[in-house]
Amino acid sequence: MIGVVLGSGLGAFADALEDRAETPYAQIPGWPASTAIGHAGKLVTGRIEGTPVVVLAGRAHLYEGYTAGQVVFGIRELARRGVRSVILTNAAGAVNLSYRPGDLVLISDHINLLGANPLCGPNDDSLGPRFPDMSEAYAADLRALAKAAAREQGIELKEGVYAAMPGPSYETPAEIRFLRIIGADLVGMSTVPETIAANHLGMKVLAISCVTNMAAGILPRKLDHREVLETGERIRDTLALLLKSIVPRFGRL
Ligand code: HPA
Repeated sequence: MIGVVLGSGLGAFADALEDRAETPYAQIPGWPASTAIGHAGKLVTGRIEGTPVVVLAGRAHLYEGYTAGQVVFGIRELARRGVRSVILTNAAGAVNLSYRPGDLVLISDHINLLGANPLCGPNDDSLGPRFPDMSEAYAADLRALAKAAAREQGIELKEGVYAAMPGPSYETPAEIRFLRIIGADLVGMSTVPETIAANHLGMKVLAISCVTNMAAGILPRKLDHREVLETGERIRDTLALLLKSIVPRFGRL
């Protein structure tokens, strides 16, 4: 079973599934119902060319006030449903000066600057080890398959390192220069807690960033959330096409 997590505004992929069935998060037993996570989205099951998928359309972020543990509830729900490989998507700012808004970038590795980790606290040994390895957090074989799928579809797919910042304020120009110096190509406010929880569970992770804007201080103008949403809308169909091509390949793994 393949899992897919769609960032906000990137939901187009979920609409195109065969044998589609939707469950609002609020109706899933154990979903942290005392919080607004229940209103944040829905779980959609279906198939792509016969390959079963479970999609989380909408995610929780640390900046909304959730703990890292709450943010990864959905990933653990995917594991309970038999997901062994998960594709995470997000919107991100470009730190790498060669990127452009509208680019799709495969995440090769991450830098966790959230100041939080979903595995802090007592370890549930039934889920995974106390000290999980993160030396190949984004599986090399899945990345190779994703690149092959992109090539076949004629979609350009770059590759880079994602730095997670807590938000919700965008970064300062000095923070972006710092991120570039420490080796980041992308900056965003999600994905890293999910990648950590998925690795803990022994799941393979593929992650794709949609570059919605050049990061702070690169262009001589302010960052605007509307620009982020508009670029996200412009890329989401290309992202959906790429996901549709990737999923059956993962199904054959
Ligand atoms: N910074 C952080 N998160 C983001 C950005 C950004 O520039 N763009 C989209 N998500």
